[in-house]
Amino acid sequence: MSGVTATGTEKDFAYDKVETLLQEFTGKKGVTVPVLQKIQEEFGYLPRPAMEYVAKRLRIPISKIFGVATFYAQFHLHPRGRNIIRVCRGTACHVRGVSKVAEKIQEILGIGVGETTEDLNFTYEEVACIGACGLAPVMTINDKTYGKLASNKLKGILKKY
Ligand code: FES
Repeated sequence: MSGVTATGTEKDFAYDKVETLLQEFTGKKGVTVPVLQKIQEEFGYLPRPAMEYVAKRLRIPISKIFGVATFYAQFHLHPRGRNIIRVCRGTACHVRGVSKVAEKIQEILGIGVGETTEDLNFTYEEVACIGACGLAPVMTINDKTYGKLASNKLKGILKKY
């Protein structure tokens, strides 16, 4: 583990995996983004112990690692669900009542925007126009688009996942 010691509840973290990922970057400069990309590929998000480990191993201030991780939308600081729900908050969907749909989904799942259910089945996000305005109000779950949504259709759709 190259002299970096795990502490407290983080002692079970898979530091060996992070160490393996770091091997190809040893001695290289400007690697923060690719290193974080590799970690996210491995874990599905950026676990805090992994970022702390990277900071110590690459001798980069942890504040800089967090700065990069929070600057780029591609990085996630919390675990993500197996299914990603994206509800469109664009103008056409707004006019067609997407607010009620959004509220209902959050009520059914018991989570807010950007959050993930405890069983890690769903992450709920809101996005700008997704280019299917003719079907407003619209959401996607993973790669599938659901249009002309109404609150009473939502439970049936979510049950499929
Ligand atoms: S505004 Fe929702 S798809 Fe365009």
